[in-house]
Amino acid sequence: MCGIVGYVGSQSALDVVLAGLKRLEYRGYDSAGVAVAADGGLAAAKKAGKLVNLEKALVDRPLPTGSSGIGHTRWATHGGPTDANAHPHLDNAGRVAVVHNGIIENFAALRDELAERGHRLDSETDTEVVAHLLAEEYSACADLAESMRLVCRRLDGAFTLVAVHADEPDVVVGARRNSPLVVGVGEGESFLASDVSAFIAHTRSAIELGQDQVVELRRDGVTVTDFAGNPADVRTFHIDWDASAAEKGGYDYFMLKEIAEQPKAVADTLLGRIDAAGSLTLDELRISDAELREVDKVVIVACGTAFHAGLIAKYAIEHWTRIPCEVELASEFRYRDPILAARTLVVAISQSGETMDTLMALRHAREQGSKVLAICNTNGSTIPRESDAVLYTHAGPEIAVASTKAFLTQLVACYLVALYLGQVRGTKWGDEIHAVIRELAQIAGQVEQVLETMEPVRELARSLADRNTVLFLGRHVGYPVALEGALKLKELAYMHAEGFAAGELKHGPIALIEKGVPVVVVVPSPRGRSVLHDKIVSNIQEIRARGARTIVIAEVGDEAVVPYADHLIRVPATPTLLQPLVATVPLQVFACELATARGNEVDQPRNLAKSVTVE
Ligand code: F6R
Repeated sequence: MCGIVGYVGSQSALDVVLAGLKRLEYRGYDSAGVAVAADGGLAAAKKAGKLVNLEKALVDRPLPTGSSGIGHTRWATHGGPTDANAHPHLDNAGRVAVVHNGIIENFAALRDELAERGHRLDSETDTEVVAHLLAEEYSACADLAESMRLVCRRLDGAFTLVAVHADEPDVVVGARRNSPLVVGVGEGESFLASDVSAFIAHTRSAIELGQDQVVELRRDGVTVTDFAGNPADVRTFHIDWDASAAEKGGYDYFMLKEIAEQPKAVADTLLGRIDAAGSLTLDELRISDAELREVDKVVIVACGTAFHAGLIAKYAIEHWTRIPCEVELASEFRYRDPILAARTLVVAISQSGETMDTLMALRHAREQGSKVLAICNTNGSTIPRESDAVLYTHAGPEIAVASTKAFLTQLVACYLVALYLGQVRGTKWGDEIHAVIRELAQIAGQVEQVLETMEPVRELARSLADRNTVLFLGRHVGYPVALEGALKLKELAYMHAEGFAAGELKHGPIALIEKGVPVVVVVPSPRGRSVLHDKIVSNIQEIRARGARTIVIAEVGDEAVVPYADHLIRVPATPTLLQPLVATVPLQVFACELATARGNEVDQPRNLAKSVTVE
């Protein structure tokens, strides 16, 4: 959601800000704008639609070159995606400009107050009040950072604000409560952005901003305070990937690149977590083994694809540790008064580390005295910072809105947590843990094998481009895989897609089956838990008897499914619990190809944002 960039330095602020906004496009947006401080004033431009509209407007009406500037890609909340509602918003005198991510809950009252004092507000946004309030404060103190602190103390809700003032052309000021904002520290230049990809081409040194902090950016450095003006401790971190990681690298879409990167992402997430003797060492976990031995319940909170990773984790955690595990949509969690205690371990899974629903769920859990472990892909983000412990996934930047490589690495991290709990609590023998780790270590190669055999899947997807519905079935861990396959198809192909537990079929969903409906079935291994396998083979026969076109994902060597599969997609043999790591991959490729065949935007599907920073 909304992308923010701020810059102070000797380069053209407009160029740096526009390039940064391009990097943030993936977050999802429907209008864009920029403002630069130049020639003793401010110059701004903003346009509804994609960045290209803004760029065209800038060709028709170029802005002067200034050395400080701010930019914004807006995902509409208050007020539609129009030119007038696009950010930046300026005060009536045009001396201060502000961009904003989040929601200012008391904006209506502030707006009425400002109107009474004679301010003219032109947009339907909650943001515009901030420009006017900043102008009022500035006229009294002539200090933008101080004005920002004073204004922030009056705002309710979640917000990231970045502002520039014509009278302080070498300063950009940012403020943060809940919504993401990261500082980049360069040589003689400083940056602010919603995430590091906006400035990674210029510097790899970054600072996390904490809750309720204001940062003043100058060429020669940054000053961070709390909203009261007290100096704040700053934590600098090094960004361990470079600009090329956030580029398409020859692929047509980021999603294709990210699907292809999965073997490496899986291998990287295992790296350094297994010692020479083959035991797990999760040194960075920051929750002691003694505390983990006391845990009597695990609760996983997450949204969307990360929630599906949690559903799969439940099978592993309960099977390997015998600790009861609940999985809950983060958006539902705190509203139903969940039972949490000091011995409950809450696991918050999030690629971005900024999903507001997940953040609110973890805050609620901590208020109830539970420990929170974050599984996260983004260093410097809010969820890990506010958790008691973190296990980072090492997927690298995920730019496509639809999550792929992050999902696989979330699964790996969940398996590691489950095994580690089993290790410290003694519910798994060392050699059992080693055996699973050996299997996990093979997964990267097996995902590679799946990727090498995807042409028939792409062909199949193209042949289904005119369909309206695709159904997905699975049992056991295959059920969340079916949910994930359906989610990918909805968000990318805009088709009706639903995932069901295959056993539920006869309790209602089988009524949806009619001649020719494509049904993807995720078949568990016939080895080990063969009862599961036999039951799903019966389910395939039931739907086929009613006319379904069956698309069967089954492991190599499973001959029992052959007579009932209209299309057979083979995946390497893995233990049942780990099968999601290979079975999900064809579903990602399927959805991506269907979206392409239907002419949809693969990386930025309609209405969606990469990181959902409002509830
Ligand atoms: C789907 C997708 C979303 C995210 C969800 C949570 O492809 O990407 O469903 O999984 O919005 O996001 P994070 O993991 O950033 O908390």
